[in-house]
Amino acid sequence: MAAEPLNEPLNEPLIELRDVNKHYGKLHVLKDVNLTVGRGEVVVVIGPSGSGKSTLCRTINRLEPVESGTITLDGQPLPEEGRDLARLRAEVGMVFQSFNLFAHRTVLANVSLAQVKVRKRGKEEADRRSRELLERVGLLAHAEKYPAQLSGGQQQRVAIARALAMDPKALLFDEPTSALDPEMINEVLEVMRQLAREGRTMVVVTHEMGFARYAANRVVFMADGRIVEDRTPEEFFTAPESERAKDFLSKILKH
Ligand SMILES: Nc1ncnc2c1ncn2[C@@H]1O[C@H](COP(=O)(O)OP(=O)(O)O)[C@@H](O)[C@H]1O
Ligand SMILES: [Mg+2]
Repeated sequence: MAAEPLNEPLNEPLIELRDVNKHYGKLHVLKDVNLTVGRGEVVVVIGPSGSGKSTLCRTINRLEPVESGTITLDGQPLPEEGRDLARLRAEVGMVFQSFNLFAHRTVLANVSLAQVKVRKRGKEEADRRSRELLERVGLLAHAEKYPAQLSGGQQQRVAIARALAMDPKALLFDEPTSALDPEMINEVLEVMRQLAREGRTMVVVTHEMGFARYAANRVVFMADGRIVEDRTPEEFFTAPESERAKDFLSKILKH
């Protein structure tokens, strides 16, 4: 696979985590996590199951509170609750493994809903924007269908369009292709590669090593709640430093 031209991230932090700690009961799931994501940067997070990748994502848009440390978005600490929190959620789009579309709404309505509710757009304006985004993810012809009438790959592209519709400052992807049949993975990755080329700020948890290698500016490797390595893909894949990363890569690259 040829290397794709990478976007040139600005040297300007958009997301910053400083000394973040989180427990679930006695389980210490995030341990002194420090992470900076620059504006326009694509950071891929990889690591074994249970290492805290999803929790990390969920703290960034405050689906999960943290006990200590600070998280800032665009220089502002994350809000605790209320209206500011809803605004934050709009600014950090999240795409999950399970697409989480509303089953009883059309594709178009799924993409428009939060634009009207949170961004306070009129319905016509929201629908216009939704159609533009559905066209970008190759699904305009499916606008009037219901999620169940689409394949998994198509549903995930709708979920991406829905996240983009909020004009987010950053996009978080938590294993967006893990629930997909193999033949559908690439259509979703292609949309993500396009977003990366456009200079979107993205944090992507994935086991797709091709994406990590060729679309990411940095790879963050997590194990047991810690960031163990944070390096360029080239460095990470050719010369991982830690035993944990070497072990992980040998397992994941074997099949
Ligand atoms: N809501 C929760 N309550 C209790 N434990 C949780 C919860 N969510 C995740 N965990 C635990 O926290 C650890 C990290 O989980 P997670 O962030 O989902 O890891 P990953 O995404 O890397 O697989 C795991 O041991 C998991 O079982
Ligand atoms: Mg996870």
